[in-house]
Amino acid sequence: MRAGNLQLDSQGRLKHFLGIEGLSRELLAEILDNAERFAPVGDRAVKKVPLLRGKTVANLFFEPSTRTRTTFDLAAKRLSADVLNLNIEASSAKKGESLTDTLRNLEAMQCDMFVVRHQTSGAAEFIARQVAPHISVINGGDGRHEHPTQAMLDVFTIRRLKQRFTHLKVAIVGDVAHSRVARSEIHALRILGVPDIRVVGPKTLIPPRIEDMGVSVHHTLEEGIAGADVVIMLRLQQERMQSALLPSAHEYFREYGLTAARLKRAAKDAIVMHPGPINRGVEIDSAVADGVQSVILQQVTYGIAVRMAVMSMVMATQSLTFGNGQGSTDVD
Ligand code: NCD
Repeated sequence: MRAGNLQLDSQGRLKHFLGIEGLSRELLAEILDNAERFAPVGDRAVKKVPLLRGKTVANLFFEPSTRTRTTFDLAAKRLSADVLNLNIEASSAKKGESLTDTLRNLEAMQCDMFVVRHQTSGAAEFIARQVAPHISVINGGDGRHEHPTQAMLDVFTIRRLKQRFTHLKVAIVGDVAHSRVARSEIHALRILGVPDIRVVGPKTLIPPRIEDMGVSVHHTLEEGIAGADVVIMLRLQQERMQSALLPSAHEYFREYGLTAARLKRAAKDAIVMHPGPINRGVEIDSAVADGVQSVILQQVTYGIAVRMAVMSMVMATQSLTFGNGQGSTDVD
């Protein structure tokens, strides 16, 4: 699915953020550069800028989430927006209200932005096609399809720690088949020029024809992470598996779990990443998750700045006046 055109307005600016596929290197770099400008806001005594004052953001989460929902919430609040957090599990969807009717009601409450997480691939795009023209939609993860802000916070973390993309070896390890994070990451890493992207996992968890995305496939961890500068571990997404694709968590850890001994196969200064939630002793050993090479908690912190960048960019397409100019995303 290509959401490329729908995401951009007539001037090529980001109107919705639905997926990484089809976006330009320049646009990804603009998101990263804006995130750099927002990162220091979190270190201030008053962690707020007035960019989205008077705007209303609705977080529509149809699937459980901790990190993504709370960091979108914090990002919107640090931009001074008003935020509605809808716990859809406990709301009208349970009473039989259709998605379209829920959306119409949120529009009637004069919301300006929807952040959507949904178990169905394509849900964010479906919503973006339905909403009133002034509303922007951000995909917070749709089925197995994409999770674009997660990929952007991952590449932000990589750029901060490794500076350049064009010499890197990046290994993505684990349940690639069920992972929207992996798909978005592969698109982002390719667009930014990473020359060596590997996916690593058992045959049952690597989707067929993934090589077409420009990655190499490895079925042993030792081979897959050899010399890697970045090792991204993925959770086993048991909730998305139709049937038992694996013998047991214990056996999985024996073959694919990242231990300190195995990490020695990667580059000496390799960083270890994980989108969370981590399952200790399943895909990653505690000694590695809490070790010096782990940047898992930095990813969480950077996620706020990256989400602030994306939210301010999509709202800038509405020709916002922030007191001192049109559509400016100035942080001060
Ligand atoms: C990921 C997700 O929900 O896609 N987590 C996240 O957003 N931080 C990955 C996962 O659930 O394993």
